[in-house]
Amino acid sequence: MVKFYMSSEQEKEKSKKYYPLPELSENARVKSMDEYKKMWKKSIEDPDAFWAEEAKMVDWFEPYDKVWIQESKYDDNFVGQWFVGGKLNVVYNCIDRWIEKGYGDEIALIWIGEDDTEKKYTYKTLKDDVCKAANALKELGVEKGDRVCIWLPMVADLAIVMLACARIGAIHSIVFGGFSAESVKDRIDDSDCKLLIVADQTRRAGKAKPMKDNLEGIIEECSSIEHVCIVKVTGADTYSYDKDVDFTALMDKQSTDCECEVMDAEDPLFILYTSGTTGKPKGVVHTTAGYLVYGMSTNKYVWDYSCLIDLKGVKPKDRDVWYCTADIGWITGHTQIIYSPLALGAISIMYEGVPTWPHKGRFWELCQKYNVTHFYTAPTAIRALMKFGDEEVKKWDLSKLKMLGTVGEVCNWPEWKWYWTVVGNGSTGEKPVGRPIVDSYWQTETGSYMMVNFGAITPMKPGSCTFPFFGVNPKLLDEEGDEVEKTNTQAYFAYDRPWPGLMRSVWGDHPRFVNTYLKKFDGHYFTGDYAMIDDEGYYFILGRSDDVIKVSGHRLGSAEVESAINSHPKVAESAVVPYPHPVKGSTIFAYVTLMTGVDPSDDLKKDIQKHTRKVAGPAVLPEIIMFTEAVPKTRSGKIMRRILKAIATKQDIGNTMTLANPEVVENLIEEREKLGEIKF
Ligand code: WTA
Repeated sequence: MVKFYMSSEQEKEKSKKYYPLPELSENARVKSMDEYKKMWKKSIEDPDAFWAEEAKMVDWFEPYDKVWIQESKYDDNFVGQWFVGGKLNVVYNCIDRWIEKGYGDEIALIWIGEDDTEKKYTYKTLKDDVCKAANALKELGVEKGDRVCIWLPMVADLAIVMLACARIGAIHSIVFGGFSAESVKDRIDDSDCKLLIVADQTRRAGKAKPMKDNLEGIIEECSSIEHVCIVKVTGADTYSYDKDVDFTALMDKQSTDCECEVMDAEDPLFILYTSGTTGKPKGVVHTTAGYLVYGMSTNKYVWDYSCLIDLKGVKPKDRDVWYCTADIGWITGHTQIIYSPLALGAISIMYEGVPTWPHKGRFWELCQKYNVTHFYTAPTAIRALMKFGDEEVKKWDLSKLKMLGTVGEVCNWPEWKWYWTVVGNGSTGEKPVGRPIVDSYWQTETGSYMMVNFGAITPMKPGSCTFPFFGVNPKLLDEEGDEVEKTNTQAYFAYDRPWPGLMRSVWGDHPRFVNTYLKKFDGHYFTGDYAMIDDEGYYFILGRSDDVIKVSGHRLGSAEVESAINSHPKVAESAVVPYPHPVKGSTIFAYVTLMTGVDPSDDLKKDIQKHTRKVAGPAVLPEIIMFTEAVPKTRSGKIMRRILKAIATKQDIGNTMTLANPEVVENLIEEREKLGEIKF
């Protein structure tokens, strides 16, 4: 985590409370903190009643018998089960029901290309495209329960094909466009995907970049793949393989009718791979009803936007406008661009491009042009934009904004303050008031928000994700699993009970799910993060306790990055740790041991970087490389990353007693000195 050193004046500012504009609470769904507390208490004491009420937002094909199986304890056999016996379809809830209720011509999703092409989908036109894609998938033999891998940039087709999968009950596994073809292959193999959907090329900052062609020599090895479906983005000719299908053409000739598959509440909706402590990424499995209800409930209360579920007195065409800047390749895009806003009947914006192209105020331009009322981004994006100065923001009319938000990492004071004052135009002084900044803390595994302020009512503290969402009972634990009673003390962060949006399993490896999340602290789900609580009960997340590295909010596993570096022919071994970066939050610091006889050089560093990006994807760059003879390891051969982190950041290295090779530490410290100050 990046630490910023502040003057006492800044410290004073930072430790204040900040208040949401009072008018926001007048017509809010939860009007006061007292009401929030009452509802939270009820959700903990009587989860059945609470979630039964929330589940009324869903149109069920068949009602469920039981809200949840409370008997299911966190143990070896734990499988979360919510809305047991209920039948539904997520896409029916996102699209069809709104047409049936007479809202067919209202806007559901606005997709904007980086060159300003625009696709405004109404519920009807969205349904037409989704049905066409669904019929195309069926023609290619995709059936309920089949896995479909989707590797696409942020084109509108990404939304269409994911919804098409969910419509026919196929399980999508979306891979972030910034990952490599090799990582696509690993994920395809892990869940035996039948189909891969990929773009011919991607557009990035005005340039076309290859996508499908990167699969050459790799996709042929995926034995489960029956077809590679190519979505036309630039129109480049990328057909090379007998399993290639022109998916755009196939879609075009399909009918716009396709029934929604009747899904069981606990049928898988999607798999999303995420990095963990060790080994390969895990296929996080989310199921149908629990994920849907949890996503809807969190978004409805936290953002309080007007939507078809509850118009709050406005006409459908005057609904609030929701813009989440995440990539759909991450959980934020799944839950916060597609499933929750559409199911709530909100207007959701999906933007293809980067925040800085064609100009540095692109986000703010879109906010002005589309009358965005709720804007949700990542601290790393705020830091990047903050560098360009206030003028880039002030040029645009952001008066329609009601709430701002962040996700993915701690929103530290410098960027928080800038977001509050420059973007939100919030006041300073003794009792600052302004557009709230929703600090939402959650994970791929949790489906949606766990710790979060309710925009309209919760007094904020910069850097704090404040309080638990309904049904969430957070616990701060010590190494033994006992509750830490003291305030302002770092502890392990866990939850004592399941909630509807909790992942159900790791694809193909249920024991891995149980061992990773439920075993460290008996009777708890462990997040992998450290946290603390302050004297007023505000929670602060203090970063990962494991080997996950967050680079620009992207979650990367040390083991995966190392295996990509190690595949360089001149590398014998490597160890990576996070290193503070002013924009990215963290960047990758790699300790690299070369093969015997290989001479270290700057060119070799560059070559290793290039190689890693090729193998793992452009999102994975070991920005700092330090050559070393060896890395410190425990007697069982485990890399001691704690020590490597300390050496990289020139902190006290602490105890080296457990090392098998304590002699390497001295040498590493010397080498680190030679590297000098690291500038970005
Ligand atoms: C971190 C992203 C502090 C945390 C939705 C978590 C945060 C990991 C916050 C999950 C926040 C996410 N404040 N830290 N508001 N939000 N994190 O799976 O370390 O990509 O465990 O999900 O991001 O990352 P993931």
